Amino acid sequence: MTAKMIVEMGTLRLGVNVDHIATLRQARYVTMPDSKNAEPDPVAAASICERAGAHGITAHLRADRRHIQDRDMERLRANIMTKLNFEMGNTPEILDVAIRIRPDEVCLVPEKRAEVTTEGGLDAIASRRDLANTIQRLHANGIRVSLFIDPDEKQIDCATELGVEMIELHTGKLANAFTEKIEAQELDRLCQCARHAHGSKLQVNAGHGINYRNIALIHKIPHLTELNIGHAIVSRAIFVGWENAVRQMLALMENYNG
Ligand code: PXP
Repeated sequence: MTAKMIVEMGTLRLGVNVDHIATLRQARYVTMPDSKNAEPDPVAAASICERAGAHGITAHLRADRRHIQDRDMERLRANIMTKLNFEMGNTPEILDVAIRIRPDEVCLVPEKRAEVTTEGGLDAIASRRDLANTIQRLHANGIRVSLFIDPDEKQIDCATELGVEMIELHTGKLANAFTEKIEAQELDRLCQCARHAHGSKLQVNAGHGINYRNIALIHKIPHLTELNIGHAIVSRAIFVGWENAVRQMLALMENYNG
């Protein structure tokens, strides 16, 4: 094993979610998708993330196409050099797109039309049969699968039974806790569930609402491999620039001893 591999093993990896780069473009160019002025470009943003040291790019192709478009996914697939994590709701239409694009990974998320962003985790137990079919198709096409779930041991057991490689623990409740008591409870739940999932041989990722402040709490959760972070990085980029914003988050993720 090389020294580089040993270092990499202890590294908490960052997947940058570029949805909100597309949100900004759509805010102005939704009716002029082919305009030569359409900007900012999520693919250009992804390249800068990679240059800054991010370990992967995440993008969510929603059924309503409110931010990322099919063409963005095609171009991300063709251009990025790290890995593409394709987030999607479990619908036949989006599944066909994912199979065509062939991302490295798919993260299955719940998707409601009226929500501002993904609100809760997937209820894997309730949608087990539909998920099983989707997971089978993704695996048959060589795509690793993650389930975005709340920190709940029953959901984790269901993920294990479904044969996915990874789970992404929903950190939204921790990030948005109004009181220290709720924060401590949620952190405890995340820690327990990360141990449980690791014990079941699942790769444990986390995401939603992670920012430059609460990343300190995320360090307390054991066995994490990857964080998916979007909104906080895009927001900071307005003030310090995109590449710096990615670098600053990476710096705060260093020395994770999960
Ligand atoms: N992970 C998943 C599964 C998500 O749905 C989202 C939001 O799109 C994120 C991570 C990123 O969340 P945030 O934008 O709050 O960092």
